[in-house]
Parts: sequence; structure tokens; C-alpha cells
Amino acid sequence: MSKIIRFGVSLEEALLEKFDRRIQGKNYASRSEAIRDLIREDLVKAEWESGKDVVGVITMVYDHHKRELVNKLTDIQHEFGKAIISSQHIHLDHYNCLEIIAVSGHPALAQKLADNLRSVKGVKHLTTNMSTTGKDIR
Ligand code: NI
Repeated sequence: MSKIIRFGVSLEEALLEKFDRRIQGKNYASRSEAIRDLIREDLVKAEWESGKDVVGVITMVYDHHKRELVNKLTDIQHEFGKAIISSQHIHLDHYNCLEIIAVSGHPALAQKLADNLRSVKGVKHLTTNMSTTGKDIR
């Protein structure tokens, strides 16, 4: 485990109060833990922007009754086969499917895959979750 360094941060009272209210609802053990999370999040974002290999998850919900929708989604995923590590399909109810796709590789490729899937008519909701192996972060 690496050495812990303490450092002081100066900021306006109102800003700190807002931050404290925000982290209260998130059950952080301490303000330090919340700040550490923010820093890590920013470093993950920087890694995505740097073009280095990343990992992430694409989550989408769609109505499988929409004409041609499932074929289109499958075609796109085959096109991006190299970027996809695995995927899971859950039949939520009579109409809706949830699909979770784990991706790795160049961030631009993962983003393009997400954008292409999102643009298919009938996809109700799609989110991407950026992550890294964290070697340079933790
Ligand atoms: Ni389904």
C-alpha cells in the first residue's frame, strides 16, 4: 500500500457545505474518501481521453418487438467483435430486454460501438460506464 499524504485544501464555505450535503447522501465514511473518489474518477476520464486501452460497460434497454431491432443490434456487435469481452442478455418482461456489454480496448472504438447501438430505433436507454484496470490510479 502506498504512503498516505495529508494536504490542505482552501475553498469557499458555501462550496464545501454543498459538497458535504452531496456526500452525506452517498454514505461516504469521510470527506477524504469522497475527495479520493472524485480524483480517481477524473483520472479514469483522463485515461479515456488519452487513448490508452480502457475497459467499460455498455448497458442498454430495448423493446425486442421493434422490427429488425435485434438483427441490427447483433450486426453492430459483430462489427465491433474485437472490442467486446462478453455480453449478457436479460429478458425483463414481455417487451423489454436488458443487455450488458463489457468492452475493452481503444476508448474511441468503445465509444463508437455505444453510439452506433444508441442510434438504433427502439433502444430506449443506453449508458456507458468508463473504467480502467486502475494500475495508475489506486
Ligand atoms: Ni430479451
